[in-house]
Order: sequence, then structure tokens, then C-alpha cells
Amino acid sequence: MAGPEPQHTNVEGVDAGVGLTALLVAAARALETHRPDSLAQDAYAEHFVRAAPACADWPVRVQQVPDGDGNPLWGRFARYFGLRTRVLDDFLLRSVRTGARQVVLLGAGLDTRVFRLDWPSDCVVFEIDRAGVLAFKHRVLTDLPATPKAKRVPIPVDLRADWVTALTTAGFDPAAPSVWLAEGLLFYLPSPAETYLIDAVDRLTAEGSALAFEAKLEKDLLKYRDSAIYTATREQIGIDLLRLFDKGPRPDSAGGLRTKGWSTSVRTPFDFTHQHGRGPLPEPNDALEGNRWVFAHKPRP
Ligand SMILES: C[S@@+](CC[C@H](N)C(=O)[O-])C[C@H]1O[C@@H](n2cnc3c(N)ncnc32)[C@H](O)[C@@H]1O
Repeated sequence: MAGPEPQHTNVEGVDAGVGLTALLVAAARALETHRPDSLAQDAYAEHFVRAAPACADWPVRVQQVPDGDGNPLWGRFARYFGLRTRVLDDFLLRSVRTGARQVVLLGAGLDTRVFRLDWPSDCVVFEIDRAGVLAFKHRVLTDLPATPKAKRVPIPVDLRADWVTALTTAGFDPAAPSVWLAEGLLFYLPSPAETYLIDAVDRLTAEGSALAFEAKLEKDLLKYRDSAIYTATREQIGIDLLRLFDKGPRPDSAGGLRTKGWSTSVRTPFDFTHQHGRGPLPEPNDALEGNRWVFAHKPRP
């Protein structure tokens, strides 16, 4: 079955449009890496930021931010990405410990988990993103001493097109357990592409597989247009996240998985802030209020 029709034909690099959001997360990971109470370590992240002319003046150390942690973008929002990285690192590693050997990173962006986490040596990590983003990533990593700790398979394809054929052609085996991640991705996709993605993950997964994804619950995304993190991201680095997010109504992907027999656990980021003793806490007019991290498992018989 082919995926939904692509709605746009332009091929962006990493330094424009939604590709730039991958650099935003990389900058946040660089900042997190160098915090004394760091939740996640990504030594590669700052190299991406430094290699992209669009981010020439972005910080990669908290000390480079004049108002430090008081800055809504490079303080609270960056810490959010640091926490998300840690929580999803833990999720993926738990999943491979219980048997999965195939890891699929949907909208992988500048994720370097294949280089920085300790995978079983027979693991395969598939990284799906658009060609421009993966080409930039390749170029930066080629200049670094970066050795993948599992087999790495980049798959340049648009998730609004037929990515399933690209993945299976690249060697993904639907009969073997797998673990999937859609981190900071689904709200950029049109609703039919998200529904297709969730259905495809269900079709391509054996029992014992797992999926984690991030969702936004708010019906009206513009509700938080003036929240501190959106305003700071717009004003300080010119990324208008609300312009990049898909505006259509979102499907209930967690509910859809439950009707297919998956178990799901829907958590707020703040749950993990409490668990780890650091990370963002709720605040008034908070664009993070509707964010949920969903952990889904396809039960074994
Ligand atoms: C906010 S970034 C997150 C990247 C990565 N998951 C992380 O957390 O570091 C969103 C990523 O989704 C990718 N993306 C958005 N729409 C996409 C599409 N239609 N097809 C493939 N990738 C897409 C972007 O290129 C970008 O790398």
C-alpha cells in the first residue's frame, strides 16, 4: 500500500523550515551535555550546530546564554529536550534488553543514538528523515571520529510518501521484534500521514515490539501562541513552530493503538521531571501543557 500523497514537493535542507527544528533540538542537546547535572550526553550535537551557517550565533553552552536558565528558549525549552532525550534513551535501551534488535527512528533528524548508546552488537538502527537532513548529518559525521555502535541504515524518504517500501527494501524485517520512535515528529505531519504511520507501525511489528511517540493534546494549537517558549523561539532564532506544525485536527493515535490490542501509557513530561529531580515544571500559559509522551507495547501472546 502506498503512503498518503505528498502535499509539498519542495526538498528542504536542514537549514530551513522543519529541518531547522532538528538543529534546534541538537543545540538543546549540546547545552544539556555540558550541564553539571546533565540528563543526557550527546558529544556530536554541538558539531551539527557549528556546521550550519543558519545557527552561527546559537549557544552550545549555557554560559553563552546571557540570561542562562532564565532564557525561555535556551533554558526551559532546551531542558525539556534534554529530559525528552534521556527518557527516550531509557525507553529504547529497555526495549532492546527485552529482545528487540531493530530500532526505527522516524523523523530521526540529528539523533545520534546509534553512535552514543550501548546497543547489542547485532542491533540495526534505521534512521528515516528527508534527504536534505540526512545528507547534512552525513557530511558532519564524516568529519568526526564517529563510529556507530550498531549497524546504521539511513533512509532518506518523506514520511508523507511511501516510506514503508523504503524501510522494508532497506532490510527491515516485520517478523522480528522492533522498537520505534517518533520523537518531536507527529505534529509536523498531516493527520492522514500520522494515521498511516500508526497503522503501518502496527502492520510492520511482531509481538513484543514497542513504540514511543510525542503528541500534543491541545485542540487549538494557537492557544499558546504567546507562551514564553514559542515567543522566544520566534524572536531569538526566527523559528515559528506554530507555523511549522500541521494545523489540522489530530488523530487519537494512542486510542487507535489500543483498539489494535496495544497497551499504552500516556505520561506528561512533568512526570519525568519529578522522577529525575530536574527538568521543566508547569507554568502559566504553558505551551508544554498539552505535550504527552506515549509508550506503547504490542503484547506477546
Ligand atoms: C523536531 S525535529 C526532531 C528530530 C529528532 N527526532 C530529534 O528529536 O532530535 C523533527 C524532524 O522531523 C523531520 N520531519 C518532519 N516532517 C517530515 C517528513 N514529512 N518526512 C520525514 N521527516 C520529517 C524533520 O526533518 C526533522 O528532522
